[in-house]
Amino acid sequence: MAVTRTFSIIKPDATRRNLTGAVTKTLEDAGLRVVASKRMQMTREQAEGFYAVHKDRPFFGELCDFMVSGPVVVQVLEGEDAVKRNRDIMGATNPADAAEGTIRKQFAESIEANTVHGSDSDENAAIEIAYFFDDAEIVG
Ligand code: CMP
Repeated sequence: MAVTRTFSIIKPDATRRNLTGAVTKTLEDAGLRVVASKRMQMTREQAEGFYAVHKDRPFFGELCDFMVSGPVVVQVLEGEDAVKRNRDIMGATNPADAAEGTIRKQFAESIEANTVHGSDSDENAAIEIAYFFDDAEIVG
């Protein structure tokens, strides 16, 4: 299995509850390595651009409001089959459907305040990583 990279966001509901370390430990325990990480306040423009694929969905406005409601931690994660590995440990988008032991089962408050974002494909991982990081900020 190839070592690949994925993009992760620790969302405002998690930073507000001081869960950055707990979420990161769960990612690391799942075999992912944090090769870049920064805490930042996303601008409305950044949030709308990042989630542009959802712009016609009814929850788009509230999703962007939420993503700028507090700091986030954007990360690049590396590991074997990183996109799938991360999605497995994240759990289902809606925490009500998330499996035991997943991040969203443990920590998420709602489908919106669901603690983490993770890329859904290698192609989107590359796009999302480049949206927030320069190559020089990623140290494997
Ligand atoms: P994320 O993986 O960051 O990608 C899009 C986000 O939209 C998703 O996680 C959810 O947090 C958020 N969202 C809010 N409402 C909904 C909804 N009804 N269905 C799907 N996603 C939603």
